[in-house]
Amino acid sequence: MRKKIVAGNWKMNNDLAQTKALINDLKNSLPNTDAEVKIAPTFTNLHAAVETVGDAAIEVVAQNMHQEASGAYTGEISADMLKSIGVKTVILGHSERRAYFGEDDALLAKKVDAALQNDMDVIFCFGEELADRKADNHFSLVESQLKNALFHLGVEDWKHIVLAYEPVWAIGTGETASPEQAQEMHEFIRKTLADKYDATLADSISILYGGSVKPNNAEEIFSKPDVDGGLIGGASLKAEDFVGIIKAI
Ligand code: PGA
Repeated sequence: MRKKIVAGNWKMNNDLAQTKALINDLKNSLPNTDAEVKIAPTFTNLHAAVETVGDAAIEVVAQNMHQEASGAYTGEISADMLKSIGVKTVILGHSERRAYFGEDDALLAKKVDAALQNDMDVIFCFGEELADRKADNHFSLVESQLKNALFHLGVEDWKHIVLAYEPVWAIGTGETASPEQAQEMHEFIRKTLADKYDATLADSISILYGGSVKPNNAEEIFSKPDVDGGLIGGASLKAEDFVGIIKAI
């Protein structure tokens, strides 16, 4: 059975005090769930986040990582640095990294390799822009993103990969993909994995949906058979909303 996951991407929000307060709020209201719950605070607050979470069933993950092990890369963070503070999972390929920081498929392939070589897990994000969807190009675009960044991986590597389909036009816009659009794409992604590898591998991969998931639309999206959870931006910044989304799974 593949895992159900609800992950909160806090992006560039919350200072140290706010990070601790939000984690404590979450700990106090965390529902009983069979889903894995993850949060991704900003780099400077990761260490404090790990300590504040303590034994609670919440995993602290990073929003990004550099592909090299160490060296003259001013401002960057390596896998070892993350692991040394107890962070074992990293989000890679978020559309904001692609759009504002020039991260392309070739670079992301290197980052994925670096994470896996360091025994880290990866939440790999991808998805089409509105223009791709309007041009009816969204399936081939998504297929190429997967192929270019992930299809060099061996079967064993995939045990450490979670996919997060995030149509760019739905991120932070209040406009979600309909549950049917999400299901259609997730089914396509699983089929693409089955064609490249096999059905067993395809069935074992958790595919999250991201893009304006809120407490009032989460249940319908999560009810779709190929949607295994969500990557939540804005609504993960309020404990009540994030908990509402966790309850919907
Ligand atoms: P959103 O962000 O929920 O605010 O749309 C999702 C994401 O960027 O992961």
